[in-house]
Amino acid sequence: MKIITTASEMMEFATAQRATGVTIGFVPTMGALHEGHASLIRAAKQDNGIVVVSVFVNPTQFNQDTDLEKYPRTFDSDKSLLERESVDVMFFPNVSEVYPDSKTPSYEMDGLDKGMEGANRPGHFNGVVQVVSRLFDLTKPSKAYFGEKDFQQLAIIKHMTHKLGYSINIIGCPTLREDDGLALSSRNIRLTTQGRITANQISTALVLAKTHLSQGKTLADTNKKVNDRLCAFTDIKLEYLELVNPTTLKPTSDEDPAIQACIAAWVDGVRLIDNMRVK
Ligand code: PAJ
Repeated sequence: MKIITTASEMMEFATAQRATGVTIGFVPTMGALHEGHASLIRAAKQDNGIVVVSVFVNPTQFNQDTDLEKYPRTFDSDKSLLERESVDVMFFPNVSEVYPDSKTPSYEMDGLDKGMEGANRPGHFNGVVQVVSRLFDLTKPSKAYFGEKDFQQLAIIKHMTHKLGYSINIIGCPTLREDDGLALSSRNIRLTTQGRITANQISTALVLAKTHLSQGKTLADTNKKVNDRLCAFTDIKLEYLELVNPTTLKPTSDEDPAIQACIAAWVDGVRLIDNMRVK
């Protein structure tokens, strides 16, 4: 596996590959890699001549300095996982390579960033779009892979890729879960033993929403049921539970044929998000 750390080398490498007709599949990550990331890499390996994975903890998408500081950095095990998955290039730049000047453009996301993560983490999606756009410029992929685990992020990346004029195919990949339902996340390693046990209540709550709706209950009733259930756990602090239309991400109605339930909750001081198609 080739490890590239500079923007210029990444761009030269990608340009040379494209010139020979090789397709590049790109998987952007912030490291602390787990099987969820590996599933994206496997999808990319199937579809493309070479696979580039970036590992970059992007400062512009963190709205709290402590969250950025506490974000796990595990270079050696990340490198091993990428080698195991036969990745061609690990792109591991530092902040000055990604952001040679300190200007942060402001992106108009046509309302997709207004609710949920966007409302609770001001500036987060602006930072995500900024870094993904810069990484697209450097890695020149024909396809890029993102997890449904970050449902709002995936919707925004699809929309903004088109809006910013990239001809890159955005591929959404299903959420990988632990046996008890907890969605795999780089943040899970920060949970205490007790927190890890409680954390599976988030996915249990999503399944409860699905069951409840399938029994013909209303959205209001479902919302209350799931809220009450999560609030019964003293070590879970629910930040939001939203039932939205999966395309517009706007609050939905009982008549909507498709509903996505999205949750953000704090367990043990660790912020976790999850979502599920519940109708
Ligand atoms: P990160 O949290 O490292 O996630 C990288 C990719 O892995 C994202 O597309 C995310 O949705 C996906 N992913 C995470 N957990 C997953 C799981 N359990 N199953 C399937 N896919 C999963 O998301 C980011 O980094 C950053 O915002 C980034 C896009 C890299 C921009 O900095």
